[in-house]
Amino acid sequence: MTTAPMPHVMPTYGRLPVALSHGRGCRVWDDAGTEYLDALAGIAVNTLGHAHPRFTAALQDQVGKLIHTSNYYQIPLQEQLAAKLIELSGLQNVFFCNSGLEANEGALKIARKYGHDLLGFDNPQTLVFEGAFHGRSLATLSATANPKIQAGFAPLVPGFVRAPLNDIAAVERLLNENPQVSAIFLETIQGEGGINPARVEFLKGLCRVADERRLLLMLDEVQCGIGRTGKWFAHQWAGIQPDVMPLAKGLGSGVPIGAIVCGPKAAGVLTAGNHGTTFGGNPLAMRAGVETLAIMEAEGLVAHAGAMGERLMGLLREGLAGQAGVVDIRGQGLMIGIELDRPAGSLLQRALDAKLLISVTADKVVRLLPPLIVSEAEIDEIAARLLPLIKNFLAEAKA
Ligand SMILES: Cc1ncc(COP(=O)(O)O)c(C=O)c1O
Repeated sequence: MTTAPMPHVMPTYGRLPVALSHGRGCRVWDDAGTEYLDALAGIAVNTLGHAHPRFTAALQDQVGKLIHTSNYYQIPLQEQLAAKLIELSGLQNVFFCNSGLEANEGALKIARKYGHDLLGFDNPQTLVFEGAFHGRSLATLSATANPKIQAGFAPLVPGFVRAPLNDIAAVERLLNENPQVSAIFLETIQGEGGINPARVEFLKGLCRVADERRLLLMLDEVQCGIGRTGKWFAHQWAGIQPDVMPLAKGLGSGVPIGAIVCGPKAAGVLTAGNHGTTFGGNPLAMRAGVETLAIMEAEGLVAHAGAMGERLMGLLREGLAGQAGVVDIRGQGLMIGIELDRPAGSLLQRALDAKLLISVTADKVVRLLPPLIVSEAEIDEIAARLLPLIKNFLAEAKA
């Protein structure tokens, strides 16, 4: 295991003492040859696992042809990927960028401009939620609800009103009190906040409220989108459509990419000169997106993610039934959180020692986000490695 310090890299992350050198499917190996089972997928990024043969060949082909041209020119792969995202979402057009926070930053710009141009507001506000995580740029960390993430970065970007999640009456009250709110912005399933789903009835209520008041409903599907929950997009479980949907993570299966997908209410808000990015939509990232979605379709990975998620959820619920210290097990598809009654950060190292890659978020929530290609046998293996870890941890660590 590599334990070499990295003194020249800014110490913004608490890193585990391992350097991964290569992978295949749901397995990765460190530079000493030790094998790990990946139940994290680079935080919901490696949709196709590692070194997927068709994906690798496509990227190699693209690298040999064209990586980047700038948006001064037409990029047919952008049109191809946008058309596919529109087909899958039922929305209308797409802006491409490079990450989740960028997609959200663009969505927040759309919300403001929509407020100015279409609602005639001079001070448009965005309704955001408790428990939210939207990224770490100044605007997106201001939209985020975590004081630890905001600490040291005041003054925050103004223009946010915060509501409790899953409380439609509170949302309506806050909208009455803040008549210049132009958009409602939330994760369909909160990821970093601890795998907290917006309930179906709540999502339907938000859709109704947004329609009645002509507001934008903006659903951050950066973590929960792209098949992870067993539908292409998590909001499809509620049978609703957002006006704006930021995407990133799983869309490029590891190649940096972001997208803002817009419906009819939002599609015309940004026009020439309003927004831009040098790298966004470059041919390499677009090819990664096109191939990711094509392979997902060819291999039936959306339905597979749903089935594998149910299997994992069943094994976890069965294995932890009646276990003191387990507060809740929740999630949808391959986005699962196990909430414990105590800080669980030390489980990361314990899992690594058990050759399993996982995450702990919101301090007490063990989070599982395996690649969508995970097999039944690998799901069973994840549960078999994780369950004793959690049980031993709860027996040893203080609440
Ligand atoms: C829901 C959500 N939105 C936005 C982001 C930010 O994405 P990025 O880290 O690519 O900037 C994340 C990252 O975890 C996320 O989970």
